[in-house]
Amino acid sequence: MAKIGIFFGSDTGRTRKVAKYIAKQLGELAADPVNVNKATVDDFLSYDALIIGTPTLGEGELPGIESGAQNESWAEFLPQLDGADMSGKVVAIYGLGDQDKYGNEFCDAMSFLYDTVTTCGATVVGPWPTEGYDFKVSQAVIDGQFVGLALDNDNQANLTDERVNTWLEQIKPALLAA
Ligand SMILES: Cc1cc2nc3c(=O)[nH]c(=O)nc-3n(C[C@H](O)[C@H](O)[C@H](O)COP(=O)(O)O)c2cc1C
Repeated sequence: MAKIGIFFGSDTGRTRKVAKYIAKQLGELAADPVNVNKATVDDFLSYDALIIGTPTLGEGELPGIESGAQNESWAEFLPQLDGADMSGKVVAIYGLGDQDKYGNEFCDAMSFLYDTVTTCGATVVGPWPTEGYDFKVSQAVIDGQFVGLALDNDNQANLTDERVNTWLEQIKPALLAA
């Protein structure tokens, strides 16, 4: 089994596309990306190293039926992790958002993934600086940094591959040591 599991939610496919790019860059280190709406909790917890990605929908919400997504997603999956023991696991989070249209909720959904996995005892790696973005508020910023990699394929798609590659180099050692 590959060392790193990649799980994503996606409504219009952009977060899925990034998941596939990440998997390609990691080669045999990573398993094929899985949409969380097709994953079981056991699948998810079978990895000691995880990369998890989400778009933000609604107004600062997780993707899922309530936020208007076409299918179930993280909003339905995360509650199933209640009480799970993720101690010893290392998790890296990425999120897609639109800083121009949603500058007061930019990439907020990363914060829900962060809160859930840290509550379950996981260690989150891969914080990302806020420089290079133009937004007002994000719930995903803690101590001046995003809790994971913020991506904006609506306005800065040309920066995505480079951001992902830089971030992967940063997180790889911690993921492989998990
Ligand atoms: C109805 C709707 C609501 C959105 N709300 C937010 C938001 O609150 N914050 C944000 O940063 N981006 C928001 N976005 C932008 C999406 O997160 C962005 O387009 C993302 O790339 C979509 O990813 P997906 O194709 O994987 O679903 C919203 C987009 C739509 C269509």
